[in-house]
Amino acid sequence: MKFEILPSFLAADLGRLADELRRAEASGADAIHIDIMDPHFVPNMSFGPSVVDFCRKTCPAFYRNVHLMMSRPDLYIGKFAAAGAQTIQVHVEADCDLHVELKRIKSLGVKPAIVLNPETDVEILRPYLGEIDEALVMTVHPGYGGQSFIAECLPKVAWLREKCPGLDIMIDGGGNAETIPLAAKAGANQFVAGSYLFGKSDMRAAVEDLRKRLASEPF
Ligand code: DX5
Ligand code: ZN
Repeated sequence: MKFEILPSFLAADLGRLADELRRAEASGADAIHIDIMDPHFVPNMSFGPSVVDFCRKTCPAFYRNVHLMMSRPDLYIGKFAAAGAQTIQVHVEADCDLHVELKRIKSLGVKPAIVLNPETDVEILRPYLGEIDEALVMTVHPGYGGQSFIAECLPKVAWLREKCPGLDIMIDGGGNAETIPLAAKAGANQFVAGSYLFGKSDMRAAVEDLRKRLASEPF
């Protein structure tokens, strides 16, 4: 299983977004994780489709992984697909028919993924497992970067890995050099890190260090 590292754009310096995106691409990271928030679903707001389009224009070859923290992602999936999202992640807690929306995402040529909040039981994903390319287990309560990793979420990763040996399984929230290997041990293969990676003056060295740590253990 390929390990992937995704800096979260939410932690970028807003005054230098183009440079920050180029820095993330040059670090050797696998994709940019773009956090989209509506203030009904989480107590915050962030980017919209225009930021996804900006990423496509600025670094066209840098894969765009788009995390919709929205109550009604169904109303925006088309816009994010048109803006250049390559994976769209929708929350299982959202207020829409996920079977329909996952199908819609796929029909737009985008990879469909489901996200699970820390308090949500992983069993709820069972009916969707055949319909997704990726599952994202939140390891913080969504809404803000820079929070502490909730290790109690890791059994959900292990549950998913046991049921779906070939599925991409991502963790998001509090990712760093200590917590990412823990998530890999539980079965995750994709790792978001926002404040940890953007906070480094040498992001390339930090990504290389994470890859070394992931390669040094028999996961
Ligand atoms: C949380 C977002 C995360 C966040 C991660 O609402 O979904 O992607 O940006 O940031 P860190 O890595 O700083 O916890
Ligand atoms: Zn996210």
